[in-house]
Amino acid sequence: LLHLLSTEGLPRETITHILDTAKSFLEVSDRDVKKVPLLRGKSVFNLFFENSTRTRTTFEIAAKRLSADVINLDVSRSSTAKGETLLDTIDNLCSMHADMFVVRHATSGAPFLIAEHLARTGRHDIRVVNAGDGRHAHPTQGLLDMYTIRHYKGDFAGLTVAIVGDILHSRVARSDIHALRALGCGEIRAIGPKTLLPAHLEAQGVKVFHNLEDGLRDCDVVIMLRLQNERMDGALLPSASEYFKRFGLTPAKLKLAKPDAIVMHPGPMNRGIEIDSAVADGPQAVILNQVTFGIAVRMAVMSILAGN
Ligand code: CP
Repeated sequence: LLHLLSTEGLPRETITHILDTAKSFLEVSDRDVKKVPLLRGKSVFNLFFENSTRTRTTFEIAAKRLSADVINLDVSRSSTAKGETLLDTIDNLCSMHADMFVVRHATSGAPFLIAEHLARTGRHDIRVVNAGDGRHAHPTQGLLDMYTIRHYKGDFAGLTVAIVGDILHSRVARSDIHALRALGCGEIRAIGPKTLLPAHLEAQGVKVFHNLEDGLRDCDVVIMLRLQNERMDGALLPSASEYFKRFGLTPAKLKLAKPDAIVMHPGPMNRGIEIDSAVADGPQAVILNQVTFGIAVRMAVMSILAGN
């Protein structure tokens, strides 16, 4: 693996190797070993051109636990604001001996552009990790979601996993669907209003539901998504109260899933829009555990990309 740009096309063996490596990092940290020297002497540059709480912070923690030097580019104070292009920024950071770029960008494809540029300019030893690009992909979120599901549910073959909400604009849903398919998930469901579901889901083997109650029946895993208003380009949005009435996950609706179903959410949550607080803070929610698993999964990705 040279870069991690997408979960699309990742073979089952690669995903399983990443999840197993993450598990070994979690076991080590349970034994109070906080740091390992796998990235000692390497410089990881966090380039977040879009806001982030979980991804940016857990990448930083993960890189530090691997003993890397971490540089967080403060994009709002960087020369990007003076009109410097993305690739000029990358060239300059390469001159500062970057070994790895962790990139979040509002434009779909930006991390691919960087990876191509590095190849074209002969910098074959620098790695790129996509930390979320536009509505395209968020591969480490997809992988940490797979880690969470495997942790609580074991084998994917017999599972029914529902993804609920604004799937059209969700890079997380896309990354989850590719990874779930690669891991042989029994049934993948997409639940949402017609206007927020992409075309061709059925062609990818995903069952589509426009009614939350029907879609939730007998699910093992429920992944809730935020309405991504920032990517809707002025489209007619459902009102928050109307959306909550039809697609908000309440304790009563969650009862339709299996009694031991887990509830996931990549964050940030909008309480009272896609999820009721009684569910978000309830016994079936594993939302904060996803965040913790994210550290180990990001350690695994970076250490594997670095050749360990
Ligand atoms: N899940 C996720 O990407 O959260 P952040 O936007 O806070 O990084």
